[in-house]
Amino acid sequence: MNNEPFWYKTAVFYELYIRAYQDSTGDGHGDFRGAIQHLDHIQSLGVDCIWIMPHYASPLKDDGYDIADYYQVHPDYGTLEDFKAFLDAAHARGLKVVTDLVTNHTSDQHPWFQAARQDKNSPYRDYYVWSDTGTEYSDARIIFLDTEASNWTYDDVAGQYFWHRFYSSQPDLNYDNPQVHEEMFNVIRHWLDMGLDGFRVDAIPYLYEREGTNCENLPETHAFLQKMRRMVDTEYPGRVLIAEANQWPEDLLPYFGTEENPEFQICFHFPIMPRLYQAVKSGDKTPIEEIWARTPDIPKNAQWMTFLRNHDELTLEMVTPEVRQWMWDNYAPDPRMKLNLGIRRRLAPLLDDNKAKWFLLHTLFLSLPGTPIVYYGDEIGMGDNIWLPDRHGCRTPMQWNSEKNGGFSNAAETYFPIHTDPVYGYQTRNVAVQEKDSTSYLNLMRFLLKARQSVPAFGDGVFEFVGTGSRSVMAYTRSIPNQTVLCLFNLSDQPQNAHLNLPDTFTDLLAANPAMQYQLAPDGQALKIAPFAAHWFL
Ligand code: GLC
Repeated sequence: MNNEPFWYKTAVFYELYIRAYQDSTGDGHGDFRGAIQHLDHIQSLGVDCIWIMPHYASPLKDDGYDIADYYQVHPDYGTLEDFKAFLDAAHARGLKVVTDLVTNHTSDQHPWFQAARQDKNSPYRDYYVWSDTGTEYSDARIIFLDTEASNWTYDDVAGQYFWHRFYSSQPDLNYDNPQVHEEMFNVIRHWLDMGLDGFRVDAIPYLYEREGTNCENLPETHAFLQKMRRMVDTEYPGRVLIAEANQWPEDLLPYFGTEENPEFQICFHFPIMPRLYQAVKSGDKTPIEEIWARTPDIPKNAQWMTFLRNHDELTLEMVTPEVRQWMWDNYAPDPRMKLNLGIRRRLAPLLDDNKAKWFLLHTLFLSLPGTPIVYYGDEIGMGDNIWLPDRHGCRTPMQWNSEKNGGFSNAAETYFPIHTDPVYGYQTRNVAVQEKDSTSYLNLMRFLLKARQSVPAFGDGVFEFVGTGSRSVMAYTRSIPNQTVLCLFNLSDQPQNAHLNLPDTFTDLLAANPAMQYQLAPDGQALKIAPFAAHWFL
């Protein structure tokens, strides 16, 4: 395992949904014991760290992001011993593991909330945020727009309104109460004591509420996050904290904190993601250049985290209303594909299952600044099921082989149906089939991750755009002392001429792949670049 202190700056992550991976008990739900059987698969991709979606006891109104007991594993997933066995097995393969930590809210089934609602004088009452009128903080936006009409919900038992930024089954914790800080710190200790490598900390912009603000990114929130980091650094040095804050780059910067008062080592860079899709659809690099121009420099030991898809809808919160509409028009032709301010589809269907576009998008994603995270199933181009509720259509069982239930489970029924359609069905789209095909998504992913991992400049290198004289041709360099990679892309489906100087000698790291081989030809003074071509010149 890489125990170098800043390992996360050059790492690649894999997002794992335990329920979807492997059912070892025959109940139709994946579990930790099952997932252990596939650590070889994860390792074979060439990733360094696994992020597991919430594994805690929960009524699953928000698929585990509604926690009813922070100290227990959801019984569908196994026991604390099973969790520990998974952790140890991952570590034995040199893979680190982080889990979700949901700090902003609990489930309404959590004993704290049950005690709070039943007794005004209970010490737990003040763990949550209450109101007699439900009119406060009216400048805070509603996030789950398709289901929630207000951030306040009246609770008959309590006789008051409670505050919630997500589903009304997820009451927000009250961070003005220092007791809540202590509770959360004890939760952190419980899991880090078991050897966990860190947390992806969920929904952190919303911890505090203040009248007259939008209740996001408040100074009080940053003060708490600094306190949390201090605790982790003191008691568990070297563990990593990742911020999930769906915000503009300038509002993300403070989540890294300062040298004296750090907050997170890593912050998700949400705004870059939709712009990558915009660029490959429009054949125009401008949105990518614009968002990097707006992205501040980050502290020396900090890192961005980037992704193409995850377990949520493809969020369009960080684009203008015009771009959002353009993205919906281009990527969500069926109204069922829309959800809140986003698109509930998986990567391969978004790209019309076009491998050249998939390859191009990944070569961008894996060479731009940031620690990339790959969402389970996208390594084989899994499909989505837009007819399932909420975001579940992108959380269906992993497709291992063409046997019953794709090898995921031998149960009569699985937690959600596995894909059986002609294009994305498990019968043909599965790991076993793709293992044997050197041009499969799976083997291309392995090829790309290996190529990326062989170039330290991709992890930590200085990033600079290079002019090409064409909006469709993007070029940039990543460099560290003694290593420079020039990345060159044609974002369009037509050959393009570009003007740029290539070094005298170079190796194209992408030229060795069997599926996408792009010729680069001189054309007079210019270079002719093939449609959707990608080159990484070392
Ligand atoms: C984060 C999670 C999302 C969840 C929400 C509320 O945005 O990614 O899945 O619903 O937080 O916890």
